Amino acid sequence: MCMSQIKIFDTTLRDGEQSPGVNLNKLEKLEIARQLEKLGVDRMEAGFPASSQGDFEAVKAIAETIKGTSVTGLARAVKSDVDTAWDALKYAEEPCLHIFLATSPIHMTYKLKQTPEQVIETAVDIVAYARQKFPQVEWSAEDASRSDWNFLAQIIEQVIDAGATVINLPDTVGYTTPKEYGELFQFIKETVPNIDQVDLSCHCHNDLGMAVANSIAAVENGATQVEGTINGIGERAGNASLEELAVAFEIRSDQYPYTTGLKLNEIKRTSDLIAKLSGMFVQANKAVVGRNAFSHEAGIHQDGVLKNKETYEIITPEMVGVQSNTLFLGKHSGRHAFQDKVKSLGFELAEENLKKAFYQFKQLTDRKKEVTDDDIFTILMEIQTDQSGAAKYLMEMFQVQYGTANIPTATVSLTTPDGNKVQNARTGQGSVEALYNTLDSLIEQELQLVDYQLNSVGRGKDALAESHVQLLVNGESMNGRGTAQDVVEASANAFLNAVNRYMIQYHISKPKEEAVKGGY
Ligand code: KIV
Ligand code: ZN
Repeated sequence: MCMSQIKIFDTTLRDGEQSPGVNLNKLEKLEIARQLEKLGVDRMEAGFPASSQGDFEAVKAIAETIKGTSVTGLARAVKSDVDTAWDALKYAEEPCLHIFLATSPIHMTYKLKQTPEQVIETAVDIVAYARQKFPQVEWSAEDASRSDWNFLAQIIEQVIDAGATVINLPDTVGYTTPKEYGELFQFIKETVPNIDQVDLSCHCHNDLGMAVANSIAAVENGATQVEGTINGIGERAGNASLEELAVAFEIRSDQYPYTTGLKLNEIKRTSDLIAKLSGMFVQANKAVVGRNAFSHEAGIHQDGVLKNKETYEIITPEMVGVQSNTLFLGKHSGRHAFQDKVKSLGFELAEENLKKAFYQFKQLTDRKKEVTDDDIFTILMEIQTDQSGAAKYLMEMFQVQYGTANIPTATVSLTTPDGNKVQNARTGQGSVEALYNTLDSLIEQELQLVDYQLNSVGRGKDALAESHVQLLVNGESMNGRGTAQDVVEASANAFLNAVNRYMIQYHISKPKEEAVKGGY
Protein backbone atom coordinates (compact mmCIF):
# COMPACT_ATOMS: atom_id res chain seq x y z
CA MET A 1 0.00 0.00 0.00
CA CYS A 2 1.35 3.42 -0.96
CA MET A 3 1.38 5.75 2.06
CA SER A 4 0.90 9.52 1.74
CA GLN A 5 2.38 11.84 4.31
CA ILE A 6 -0.15 14.26 5.77
CA LYS A 7 1.15 17.64 6.98
CA ILE A 8 0.53 18.47 10.62
CA PHE A 9 -0.35 22.06 11.48
CA ASP A 10 -0.23 22.51 15.22
CA THR A 11 -2.28 25.33 16.71
CA THR A 12 -1.76 24.60 20.41
CA LEU A 13 -0.16 28.01 20.87
CA ARG A 14 -3.04 29.84 19.18
CA ASP A 15 -6.38 27.99 19.19
CA GLY A 16 -5.17 25.97 22.20
CA GLU A 17 -4.27 29.13 24.04
CA GLN A 18 -7.82 30.37 23.39
CA SER A 19 -9.06 27.72 25.85
CA PRO A 20 -10.87 29.44 28.69
CA GLY A 21 -8.44 30.24 31.50
CA VAL A 22 -5.26 29.49 29.53
CA ASN A 23 -2.73 32.27 29.42
CA LEU A 24 0.83 31.41 28.40
CA ASN A 25 3.70 33.87 28.69
CA LYS A 26 6.55 34.26 26.20
CA LEU A 27 8.93 31.82 27.86
CA GLU A 28 6.22 29.20 28.26
CA LYS A 29 5.23 29.53 24.62
CA LEU A 30 8.88 29.26 23.60
CA GLU A 31 9.38 26.10 25.65
CA ILE A 32 6.29 24.53 24.06
CA ALA A 33 7.43 25.64 20.58
CA ARG A 34 10.81 23.91 21.09
CA GLN A 35 9.04 20.73 22.08
CA LEU A 36 6.64 20.92 19.11
CA GLU A 37 9.67 21.21 16.86
CA LYS A 38 11.11 18.05 18.48
CA LEU A 39 7.76 16.33 18.03
CA GLY A 40 8.10 17.01 14.32
CA VAL A 41 5.07 19.14 13.44
CA ASP A 42 5.30 20.61 9.92
CA ARG A 43 3.80 23.99 10.84
CA MET A 44 3.14 25.65 14.15
CA GLU A 45 0.77 28.53 14.65
CA ALA A 46 2.62 30.53 17.29
CA GLY A 47 -0.10 33.06 18.05
CA PHE A 48 -2.08 36.05 16.87
CA PRO A 49 0.45 38.91 16.73
CA ALA A 50 -2.08 41.75 16.38
CA SER A 51 -4.11 40.62 19.41
CA SER A 52 -1.69 41.95 22.06
CA GLN A 53 1.87 43.14 22.54
CA GLY A 54 2.54 40.03 24.63
CA ASP A 55 1.46 37.71 21.83
CA PHE A 56 3.45 39.75 19.31
CA GLU A 57 6.62 39.32 21.43
CA ALA A 58 5.99 35.59 21.86
CA VAL A 59 5.46 34.99 18.13
CA LYS A 60 8.59 37.01 17.32
CA ALA A 61 10.68 35.05 19.82
CA ILE A 62 9.41 31.76 18.38
CA ALA A 63 10.06 32.92 14.80
CA GLU A 64 13.63 33.84 15.75
CA THR A 65 14.28 30.56 17.58
CA ILE A 66 12.55 27.74 15.71
CA LYS A 67 14.33 26.64 12.59
CA GLY A 68 13.10 23.15 11.73
CA THR A 69 9.40 24.01 11.44
CA SER A 70 7.44 26.63 9.54
CA VAL A 71 6.14 29.29 11.95
CA THR A 72 2.70 30.79 11.32
CA GLY A 73 0.73 33.66 12.81
CA LEU A 74 -2.99 34.39 12.63
CA ALA A 75 -4.49 37.58 11.18
CA ARG A 76 -7.92 38.98 10.47
CA ALA A 77 -8.57 40.13 6.92
CA VAL A 78 -7.25 43.61 7.62
CA LYS A 79 -4.00 45.11 6.38
CA SER A 80 -2.80 46.29 9.79
CA ASP A 81 -3.03 42.68 11.12
CA VAL A 82 -0.97 41.48 8.14
CA ASP A 83 1.68 44.18 8.72
CA THR A 84 1.92 43.42 12.44
CA ALA A 85 2.18 39.70 11.73
CA TRP A 86 4.98 40.33 9.22
CA ASP A 87 6.92 42.36 11.81
CA ALA A 88 6.75 39.38 14.16
CA LEU A 89 7.29 36.62 11.62
CA LYS A 90 9.84 38.01 9.17
CA TYR A 91 12.67 36.42 11.18
CA ALA A 92 11.30 32.92 10.66
CA GLU A 93 13.04 30.53 8.31
CA GLU A 94 9.72 29.75 6.63
CA PRO A 95 7.22 32.48 7.64
CA CYS A 96 3.58 31.77 6.96
CA LEU A 97 0.48 33.90 7.48
CA HIS A 98 -2.93 32.47 8.34
CA ILE A 99 -5.81 34.78 7.37
CA PHE A 100 -9.38 33.94 8.29
CA LEU A 101 -12.64 35.37 6.98
CA ALA A 102 -16.09 33.94 7.58
CA THR A 103 -18.11 32.51 4.68
CA SER A 104 -21.29 31.16 6.30
CA PRO A 105 -24.55 33.11 5.85
CA ILE A 106 -24.94 33.61 9.61
CA HIS A 107 -21.39 35.00 10.03
CA MET A 108 -21.51 37.16 6.90
CA THR A 109 -24.88 38.67 7.81
CA TYR A 110 -24.54 39.24 11.54
CA LYS A 111 -20.82 39.42 12.25
CA LEU A 112 -19.22 40.83 9.11
CA LYS A 113 -22.32 42.64 7.82
CA GLN A 114 -21.01 42.05 4.29
CA THR A 115 -22.65 40.58 1.19
CA PRO A 116 -21.08 37.43 -0.30
CA GLU A 117 -19.65 39.57 -3.14
CA GLN A 118 -18.00 41.91 -0.61
CA VAL A 119 -16.56 38.94 1.26
CA ILE A 120 -14.98 37.63 -1.96
CA GLU A 121 -13.48 41.04 -2.65
CA THR A 122 -12.10 41.38 0.90
CA ALA A 123 -10.60 37.88 0.76
CA VAL A 124 -8.96 38.34 -2.62
CA ASP A 125 -7.52 41.77 -1.72
CA ILE A 126 -6.08 40.68 1.60
CA VAL A 127 -4.52 37.48 0.26
CA ALA A 128 -2.89 39.41 -2.61
CA TYR A 129 -1.63 41.99 -0.11
CA ALA A 130 -0.24 39.33 2.22
CA ARG A 131 1.56 37.52 -0.61
CA GLN A 132 3.62 40.66 -1.25
CA LYS A 133 5.31 39.90 2.08
CA PHE A 134 4.77 36.24 2.94
CA PRO A 135 6.00 33.29 0.85
CA GLN A 136 3.19 31.14 2.32
CA VAL A 137 -0.36 32.33 2.94
CA GLU A 138 -3.07 30.11 4.33
CA TRP A 139 -6.63 31.30 3.88
CA SER A 140 -9.40 29.95 6.12
CA ALA A 141 -13.06 30.08 5.23
CA GLU A 142 -14.25 30.45 8.81
CA ASP A 143 -17.38 28.38 9.55
CA ALA A 144 -16.86 26.57 6.23
CA SER A 145 -18.91 23.58 7.37
CA ARG A 146 -22.03 25.79 7.60
CA SER A 147 -21.30 27.68 4.37
CA ASP A 148 -22.91 27.27 0.98
CA TRP A 149 -20.73 24.82 -0.98
CA ASN A 150 -21.06 26.59 -4.32
CA PHE A 151 -20.12 29.90 -2.71
CA LEU A 152 -17.14 28.20 -1.09
CA ALA A 153 -15.98 26.81 -4.43
CA GLN A 154 -16.26 30.25 -6.01
CA ILE A 155 -14.32 32.13 -3.30
CA ILE A 156 -11.64 29.42 -2.99
CA GLU A 157 -10.87 29.54 -6.73
CA GLN A 158 -10.40 33.31 -6.59
CA VAL A 159 -8.35 33.27 -3.40
CA ILE A 160 -5.99 30.71 -4.95
CA ASP A 161 -5.64 32.95 -8.03
CA ALA A 162 -4.78 35.79 -5.63
CA GLY A 163 -1.86 33.75 -4.25
CA ALA A 164 -3.07 31.57 -1.35
CA THR A 165 -0.85 28.53 -0.86
CA VAL A 166 -3.06 26.68 1.65
CA ILE A 167 -6.87 26.56 1.80
CA ASN A 168 -8.42 25.60 5.12
CA LEU A 169 -12.05 24.59 5.63
CA PRO A 170 -12.69 24.85 9.37
CA ASP A 171 -15.56 23.25 11.21
CA THR A 172 -15.46 26.28 13.49
CA VAL A 173 -18.37 25.32 15.73
CA GLY A 174 -17.83 21.55 15.76
CA TYR A 175 -21.12 20.92 13.96
CA THR A 176 -20.24 18.63 11.08
CA THR A 177 -20.21 14.82 10.85
CA PRO A 178 -17.56 12.58 9.23
CA LYS A 179 -19.76 11.77 6.21
CA GLU A 180 -20.79 15.37 5.58
CA TYR A 181 -17.29 16.83 6.10
CA GLY A 182 -15.75 14.16 3.84
CA GLU A 183 -18.28 15.01 1.14
CA LEU A 184 -17.44 18.72 1.42
CA PHE A 185 -13.76 17.96 0.76
CA GLN A 186 -14.67 15.70 -2.14
CA PHE A 187 -16.90 18.43 -3.61
CA ILE A 188 -14.17 21.08 -3.34
CA LYS A 189 -11.59 18.73 -4.89
CA GLU A 190 -13.91 18.00 -7.80
CA THR A 191 -15.29 21.53 -8.32
CA VAL A 192 -12.43 24.00 -7.82
CA PRO A 193 -10.25 23.84 -10.94
CA ASN A 194 -7.03 25.16 -9.36
CA ILE A 195 -7.32 23.24 -6.03
CA ASP A 196 -4.35 21.01 -6.83
CA GLN A 197 -2.01 24.02 -6.68
CA VAL A 198 -2.47 24.30 -2.89
CA ASP A 199 -2.50 22.28 0.30
CA LEU A 200 -6.06 21.55 1.39
CA SER A 201 -6.44 21.67 5.14
CA CYS A 202 -9.01 20.60 7.73
CA HIS A 203 -9.54 22.21 11.14
CA CYS A 204 -12.10 20.61 13.43
CA HIS A 205 -13.56 21.56 16.79
CA ASN A 206 -14.79 18.94 19.19
CA ASP A 207 -18.20 20.21 20.30
CA LEU A 208 -19.86 16.91 19.35
CA GLY A 209 -16.80 14.80 20.20
CA MET A 210 -16.10 14.08 16.51
CA ALA A 211 -13.10 16.32 15.76
CA VAL A 212 -10.62 13.49 15.13
CA ALA A 213 -13.14 11.39 13.18
CA ASN A 214 -14.04 14.42 11.06
CA SER A 215 -10.36 15.17 10.38
CA ILE A 216 -9.77 11.59 9.26
CA ALA A 217 -12.81 11.82 6.94
CA ALA A 218 -11.32 14.99 5.44
CA VAL A 219 -8.00 13.23 4.83
CA GLU A 220 -9.80 10.29 3.19
CA ASN A 221 -11.37 12.81 0.82
CA GLY A 222 -8.35 14.82 -0.20
CA ALA A 223 -7.13 16.95 2.74
CA THR A 224 -3.34 17.13 2.70
CA GLN A 225 -3.00 18.94 6.03
CA VAL A 226 -4.64 18.45 9.43
CA GLU A 227 -4.85 21.23 12.01
CA GLY A 228 -5.24 20.49 15.68
CA THR A 229 -3.70 20.71 19.11
CA ILE A 230 -1.91 18.48 21.57
CA ASN A 231 -4.26 17.12 24.24
CA GLY A 232 -7.10 18.53 22.09
CA ILE A 233 -7.10 21.83 23.98
CA GLY A 234 -8.77 24.79 22.31
CA GLU A 235 -11.77 27.06 22.08
CA ARG A 236 -14.84 25.61 23.93
CA ALA A 237 -14.67 21.79 23.72
CA GLY A 238 -11.28 22.03 22.02
CA ASN A 239 -9.73 21.02 18.70
CA ALA A 240 -8.85 17.72 17.06
CA SER A 241 -6.27 15.98 19.17
CA LEU A 242 -3.15 15.54 17.03
CA GLU A 243 -1.66 12.73 19.09
CA GLU A 244 -4.85 10.68 18.66
CA LEU A 245 -4.84 11.20 14.91
CA ALA A 246 -1.15 10.28 14.51
CA VAL A 247 -1.45 7.15 16.63
CA ALA A 248 -4.66 6.10 14.84
CA PHE A 249 -2.80 6.32 11.50
CA GLU A 250 0.04 4.24 12.96
CA ILE A 251 -2.04 1.54 14.62
CA ARG A 252 -4.63 1.24 11.84
CA SER A 253 -2.30 1.60 8.86
CA ASP A 254 -4.22 -1.33 7.38
CA GLN A 255 -7.20 1.04 7.06
CA TYR A 256 -5.43 4.37 6.71
CA PRO A 257 -2.65 4.65 4.12
CA TYR A 258 -1.34 7.84 5.74
CA THR A 259 1.61 8.82 7.86
CA THR A 260 2.63 12.00 9.65
CA GLY A 261 6.08 13.34 10.41
CA LEU A 262 5.37 13.17 14.16
CA LYS A 263 7.88 11.32 16.33
CA LEU A 264 5.41 9.30 18.33
CA ASN A 265 7.81 8.76 21.23
CA GLU A 266 7.82 12.54 21.88
CA ILE A 267 4.05 12.56 22.42
CA LYS A 268 3.97 11.97 26.17
CA ARG A 269 6.55 14.61 26.96
CA THR A 270 4.76 17.14 24.74
CA SER A 271 1.44 16.32 26.35
CA ASP A 272 2.85 16.62 29.90
CA LEU A 273 4.57 19.93 29.17
CA ILE A 274 1.44 21.46 27.67
CA ALA A 275 -0.79 20.17 30.47
CA LYS A 276 1.48 21.62 33.14
CA LEU A 277 2.06 24.96 31.48
CA SER A 278 -1.55 25.49 30.44
CA GLY A 279 -3.11 24.13 33.63
CA MET A 280 -5.47 22.09 31.42
CA PHE A 281 -4.96 18.66 32.92
CA VAL A 282 -5.66 15.63 30.80
CA GLN A 283 -8.54 13.44 31.93
CA ALA A 284 -7.31 10.05 33.23
CA ASN A 285 -9.15 8.11 30.52
CA LYS A 286 -8.05 10.33 27.61
CA ALA A 287 -6.99 8.28 24.58
CA VAL A 288 -3.22 7.92 24.04
CA VAL A 289 -2.00 10.22 26.84
CA GLY A 290 -4.38 9.74 29.80
CA ARG A 291 -2.97 8.29 33.02
CA ASN A 292 -5.18 5.22 32.64
CA ALA A 293 -4.59 4.71 28.92
CA PHE A 294 -2.20 1.84 29.68
CA SER A 295 -3.56 0.55 33.00
CA HIS A 296 -5.48 -2.67 33.14
CA GLU A 297 -7.79 -2.90 36.12
CA ALA A 298 -10.02 -5.92 35.65
CA GLY A 299 -8.51 -9.20 36.84
CA ILE A 300 -9.29 -10.95 33.57
CA HIS A 301 -7.56 -8.18 31.64
CA GLN A 302 -4.50 -8.21 33.90
CA ASP A 303 -4.25 -11.96 33.55
CA GLY A 304 -4.52 -11.68 29.76
CA VAL A 305 -1.86 -8.97 29.52
CA LEU A 306 0.54 -10.99 31.66
CA LYS A 307 0.15 -13.93 29.29
CA ASN A 308 0.32 -11.85 26.12
CA LYS A 309 0.24 -8.05 26.08
CA GLU A 310 -1.68 -7.97 22.84
CA THR A 311 -4.75 -9.52 24.45
CA TYR A 312 -5.83 -6.09 25.70
CA GLU A 313 -3.14 -3.63 24.62
CA ILE A 314 -3.17 -2.14 21.12
CA ILE A 315 -0.76 0.74 21.82
CA THR A 316 2.41 0.16 23.80
CA PRO A 317 3.36 2.84 26.35
CA GLU A 318 6.86 2.94 24.80
CA MET A 319 5.42 3.89 21.40
CA VAL A 320 4.20 7.24 22.74
CA GLY A 321 7.18 7.77 25.05
CA VAL A 322 5.67 6.74 28.37
CA GLN A 323 8.59 5.84 30.59
CA SER A 324 8.26 3.80 33.72
CA ASN A 325 9.61 5.85 36.61
CA THR A 326 12.08 3.21 37.71
CA LEU A 327 15.33 5.15 37.88
CA PHE A 328 14.78 7.50 40.79
CA LEU A 329 17.38 10.01 41.91
CA GLY A 330 17.94 10.59 45.62
CA LYS A 331 20.10 12.16 48.31
CA HIS A 332 23.29 10.58 47.03
CA SER A 333 22.85 11.36 43.35
CA GLY A 334 25.51 13.76 42.12
CA ARG A 335 25.62 16.53 39.54
CA HIS A 336 26.51 14.06 36.79
CA ALA A 337 23.50 11.82 37.29
CA PHE A 338 21.32 14.90 37.56
CA GLN A 339 22.69 16.29 34.29
CA ASP A 340 21.99 12.95 32.55
CA LYS A 341 18.45 13.03 33.85
CA VAL A 342 17.94 16.61 32.64
CA LYS A 343 19.07 15.54 29.19
CA SER A 344 16.90 12.44 29.13
CA LEU A 345 13.88 14.56 30.05
CA GLY A 346 14.55 16.67 26.97
CA PHE A 347 15.63 19.95 28.62
CA GLU A 348 18.52 22.10 27.44
CA LEU A 349 19.40 24.42 30.29
CA ALA A 350 21.89 27.26 30.37
CA GLU A 351 24.66 26.69 32.95
CA GLU A 352 23.14 29.16 35.41
CA ASN A 353 19.72 27.51 35.24
CA LEU A 354 21.28 24.09 35.59
CA LYS A 355 22.95 25.21 38.82
CA LYS A 356 19.64 26.55 40.13
CA ALA A 357 17.89 23.31 39.21
CA PHE A 358 20.54 21.18 40.91
CA TYR A 359 20.25 23.28 44.06
CA GLN A 360 16.47 22.86 44.14
CA PHE A 361 16.82 19.15 43.45
CA LYS A 362 19.21 18.81 46.40
CA GLN A 363 16.80 20.68 48.65
CA LEU A 364 14.05 18.32 47.60
CA THR A 365 16.14 15.25 48.39
CA ASP A 366 16.34 16.45 52.00
CA ARG A 367 12.57 16.03 52.24
CA LYS A 368 11.91 13.25 49.77
CA LYS A 369 13.61 9.88 49.64
CA GLU A 370 13.02 9.16 45.98
CA VAL A 371 12.87 12.05 43.54
CA THR A 372 10.90 10.98 40.47
CA ASP A 373 11.09 12.11 36.85
CA ASP A 374 7.85 14.01 37.44
CA ASP A 375 9.42 15.97 40.31
CA ILE A 376 12.49 16.86 38.25
CA PHE A 377 10.35 17.75 35.23
CA THR A 378 8.39 20.15 37.45
CA ILE A 379 11.55 21.81 38.82
CA LEU A 380 13.10 22.19 35.36
CA MET A 381 9.96 23.56 33.78
CA GLU A 382 9.54 26.15 36.55
CA ILE A 383 13.13 27.33 36.09
CA GLN A 384 13.02 27.34 32.30
CA THR A 385 9.85 29.47 32.20
CA ASP A 386 10.48 31.82 35.11
CA GLN A 387 10.18 35.45 34.05
CA SER A 388 12.49 36.67 36.79
CA GLY A 389 13.84 40.16 36.91
CA ALA A 390 10.40 41.79 36.74
CA ALA A 391 8.97 43.60 39.76
CA LYS A 392 6.88 41.11 41.67
CA TYR A 393 5.09 40.39 44.92
CA LEU A 394 7.40 38.23 47.02
CA MET A 395 6.26 36.03 49.87
CA GLU A 396 8.40 36.74 52.94
CA MET A 397 6.57 34.35 55.25
CA PHE A 398 3.16 32.93 55.92
CA GLN A 399 1.56 30.99 58.71
CA VAL A 400 -1.79 29.23 58.74
CA GLN A 401 -3.60 28.02 61.84
CA TYR A 402 -6.08 25.32 61.14
CA GLY A 403 -7.91 22.87 63.37
CA THR A 404 -11.38 21.44 63.63
CA ALA A 405 -11.95 23.44 66.82
CA ASN A 406 -10.96 26.93 65.71
CA ILE A 407 -11.45 29.43 62.89
CA PRO A 408 -8.83 29.03 60.16
CA THR A 409 -6.54 32.08 60.27
CA ALA A 410 -3.64 33.09 58.04
CA THR A 411 -0.88 35.63 58.64
CA VAL A 412 1.17 36.74 55.63
CA SER A 413 4.14 39.06 55.07
CA LEU A 414 4.84 40.23 51.54
CA THR A 415 7.24 42.52 49.75
CA THR A 416 5.35 44.54 47.15
CA PRO A 417 6.78 45.29 43.67
CA ASP A 418 7.87 48.75 44.87
CA GLY A 419 9.83 47.21 47.75
CA ASN A 420 7.47 47.85 50.71
CA LYS A 421 7.02 45.23 53.40
CA VAL A 422 3.36 44.59 54.27
CA GLN A 423 1.70 42.20 56.72
CA ASN A 424 -1.84 41.21 57.59
CA ALA A 425 -4.03 38.42 58.98
CA ARG A 426 -7.46 37.21 57.90
CA THR A 427 -9.78 34.29 58.54
CA GLY A 428 -11.65 32.00 56.15
CA GLN A 429 -13.83 28.87 56.04
CA GLY A 430 -10.72 26.76 55.37
CA SER A 431 -6.96 27.19 55.41
CA VAL A 432 -6.63 28.04 51.70
CA GLU A 433 -9.49 30.54 51.89
CA ALA A 434 -7.92 32.22 54.93
CA LEU A 435 -4.62 32.46 53.07
CA TYR A 436 -6.22 33.79 49.90
CA ASN A 437 -8.29 36.35 51.86
CA THR A 438 -5.10 37.58 53.49
CA LEU A 439 -3.18 37.78 50.20
CA ASP A 440 -6.13 39.61 48.66
CA SER A 441 -6.09 42.17 51.47
CA LEU A 442 -2.37 42.85 50.89
CA ILE A 443 -2.33 43.08 47.10
CA GLU A 444 -3.37 46.40 45.63
CA GLN A 445 -5.14 44.93 42.64
CA GLU A 446 -8.77 43.95 42.15
CA LEU A 447 -8.71 40.14 42.54
CA GLN A 448 -11.33 37.48 41.99
CA LEU A 449 -10.67 33.75 42.22
CA VAL A 450 -12.30 31.91 39.31
CA ASP A 451 -10.80 28.44 39.51
CA TYR A 452 -8.58 26.46 41.86
CA GLN A 453 -7.00 23.04 41.31
CA LEU A 454 -4.71 20.91 43.39
CA ASN A 455 -2.86 17.82 42.17
CA SER A 456 -0.06 15.64 43.38
CA VAL A 457 3.00 15.31 41.16
CA GLY A 458 3.33 11.53 40.89
CA ARG A 459 2.21 9.21 43.63
CA GLY A 460 3.06 8.58 47.27
CA LYS A 461 2.71 10.36 50.60
CA ASP A 462 5.68 12.64 49.99
CA ALA A 463 4.69 13.66 46.44
CA LEU A 464 5.04 17.32 45.52
CA ALA A 465 1.82 19.32 45.49
CA GLU A 466 0.99 21.30 42.37
CA SER A 467 -1.68 23.97 42.37
CA HIS A 468 -3.24 25.90 39.49
CA VAL A 469 -5.46 28.93 39.91
CA GLN A 470 -7.31 31.20 37.55
CA LEU A 471 -7.70 34.75 38.84
CA LEU A 472 -9.30 37.84 37.44
CA VAL A 473 -6.74 40.55 38.10
CA ASN A 474 -8.31 43.95 37.42
CA GLY A 475 -10.73 42.06 35.17
CA GLU A 476 -7.94 40.27 33.21
CA SER A 477 -7.95 36.47 33.31
CA MET A 478 -4.58 35.18 34.57
CA ASN A 479 -3.58 31.65 35.42
CA GLY A 480 -0.94 30.81 37.99
CA ARG A 481 0.99 27.72 38.94
CA GLY A 482 2.77 26.77 42.12
CA THR A 483 4.52 23.71 43.47
CA ALA A 484 5.73 22.89 46.96
CA GLN A 485 5.97 19.96 49.29
CA ASP A 486 3.00 21.33 51.20
CA VAL A 487 -0.44 21.84 49.65
CA VAL A 488 -1.04 25.22 51.34
CA GLU A 489 2.33 26.56 50.23
CA ALA A 490 1.72 25.33 46.66
CA SER A 491 -1.65 27.14 46.76
CA ALA A 492 -0.02 30.37 47.96
CA ASN A 493 2.63 30.12 45.22
CA ALA A 494 -0.02 29.62 42.53
CA PHE A 495 -2.00 32.65 43.72
CA LEU A 496 1.06 34.90 43.75
CA ASN A 497 2.22 33.52 40.41
CA ALA A 498 -1.08 34.58 38.77
CA VAL A 499 -0.78 38.09 40.24
CA ASN A 500 2.89 38.36 39.21
CA ARG A 501 2.09 37.24 35.67
CA TYR A 502 -0.35 40.11 35.52
CA MET A 503 2.32 42.53 36.79
CA ILE A 504 4.77 41.35 34.10
CA GLN A 505 2.15 41.43 31.34
CA TYR A 506 0.85 44.80 32.48
CA HIS A 507 4.28 46.28 31.89
CA ILE A 508 4.87 44.79 28.45
CA SER A 509 1.43 44.42 26.97
CA LYS A 510 -1.88 45.99 26.33
CA PRO A 511 -4.73 43.60 27.16
CA LYS A 512 -6.10 41.34 24.45
CA GLU A 513 -8.84 43.21 22.63
CA GLU A 514 -12.19 41.64 23.40
CA ALA A 515 -13.33 42.24 19.82
CA VAL A 516 -10.42 40.18 18.55
CA LYS A 517 -10.70 37.40 21.08
CA GLY A 518 -14.44 37.15 20.76
CA GLY A 519 -14.36 37.34 16.97
CA TYR A 520 -13.74 33.70 16.14
O1 KIV B 1 -12.04 27.44 14.16
C1 KIV B 1 -11.75 28.33 13.35
O2 KIV B 1 -12.50 28.66 12.43
C2 KIV B 1 -10.47 29.01 13.54
C3 KIV B 1 -10.06 29.94 12.44
C4 KIV B 1 -9.36 31.14 12.98
C5 KIV B 1 -9.26 29.17 11.45
O3 KIV B 1 -9.77 28.76 14.47
ZN1 ZN C 1 -10.40 26.91 15.48
